[in-house]
Amino acid sequence: MELTEEEIKTAKETSQNILENYTCTDRGKIIPVLQNIQNELGYVPLPAMQTVSDHFELPAVDIYSIVTFYNQFRLIPPGKNQVKVCMGTACHMRGGQIILDSWERRLDIKCGETTEDREFSLERVACVGCCTLAPVVVMNEEIHGKVTPTRVDGLLYSYQLDKEQEEGEEQEQKAGEENE
Ligand code: FES
Repeated sequence: MELTEEEIKTAKETSQNILENYTCTDRGKIIPVLQNIQNELGYVPLPAMQTVSDHFELPAVDIYSIVTFYNQFRLIPPGKNQVKVCMGTACHMRGGQIILDSWERRLDIKCGETTEDREFSLERVACVGCCTLAPVVVMNEEIHGKVTPTRVDGLLYSYQLDKEQEEGEEQEQKAGEENE
């Protein structure tokens, strides 16, 4: 996935700001620095890894190896809306894979990816603790239970309606400000 100019700029600035708190080049600090970057940006992009490698005077490939070794790190930007499909045992037994496939088809991305417009990212998660509702989807921290492919369409449709409403309100507000 190609990063936008803005994302590259933010990645560099954020990682530089974080590294200002680390005057030493003690390699034991690499993981805490990467964790801070991920906390700030939601992921650890290549330009940030480059900044970290310059600071610790290590080849960029070493930093890349660390980031890809630990699955706590994300390499691509998260979407504005994060869809997590539970693939714990109960959800898996009750059609979790079918639900994941439905999201992949509707969003036209694979699990672990983010849509080009950065609106949605899709991932699979382990049991989220409400197995009686299986199969479960967590969308922006909200739990949806007994999800079916039709429900996936419904969730996307209600997201579109909310977005249209938000855009309408923004336009009204702008028009109001211009008329003042
Ligand atoms: S397995 Fe999905 S909520 Fe427990």
